[in-house]
Amino acid sequence: MSGIILCRSKYGASAKYAEWISQETGFKVVDTKNAKINEVEKYDTIIIGGGLYYSSIAGISFLKKNYDALKNKHIIVFCCGASPSDDEMLEIIKNKNLGGELAKIPCFYFQGMWDIENMNFTDKTMCKMFVRSLEKKDPSELRSWAKLVVEAKGRKCDWTKKDYLEPLFAELGNGEKS
Ligand SMILES: Cc1cc2nc3c(=O)[nH]c(=O)nc-3n(C[C@H](O)[C@H](O)[C@H](O)COP(=O)(O)O)c2cc1C
Repeated sequence: MSGIILCRSKYGASAKYAEWISQETGFKVVDTKNAKINEVEKYDTIIIGGGLYYSSIAGISFLKKNYDALKNKHIIVFCCGASPSDDEMLEIIKNKNLGGELAKIPCFYFQGMWDIENMNFTDKTMCKMFVRSLEKKDPSELRSWAKLVVEAKGRKCDWTKKDYLEPLFAELGNGEKS
């Protein structure tokens, strides 16, 4: 089966997962911003992933825009955020990014990285404000992801793990059988 990995990564976390998928499958990785639909539609399997920004998956607009041309392919979506994986959060992500016809597309979440000092000015400002607002709350009321970013302070955090990809590889195997 032929396949391609499209990825939009701002600080390298989704790119790391894309690279691991590529090593395992032999599929090439293309930055979604450079992807051309007439090239992508030549492949049987399309894996599209990106970082999470305000619950939106970076680069998902490529899939939305080109879904008609790709709907008969084996499509897999993945995304990568700071939060630990949790079912409620995955539901929110799916509702926001994969509405209507796209709802049936398998979507996987992998924990990424968090490094405020390495962010661009706008992201750093927004994230510092966000952390300050969380610090004012009672720690016992914070959800697990909020606790993590408060505890991280200015430290560089890298939660990426190749093992998280197992369910995605299982989904790839399902596609090969059908
Ligand atoms: C402005 C901003 C908004 C973010 N929003 C979310 C979010 O909604 N949910 C989440 O889990 N992580 C969020 N993050 C954390 C990133 O998703 C995380 O750092 C991820 O590893 C980025 O992936 P990338 O490096 O591939 O772009 C946000 C980060 C920034 C800078």
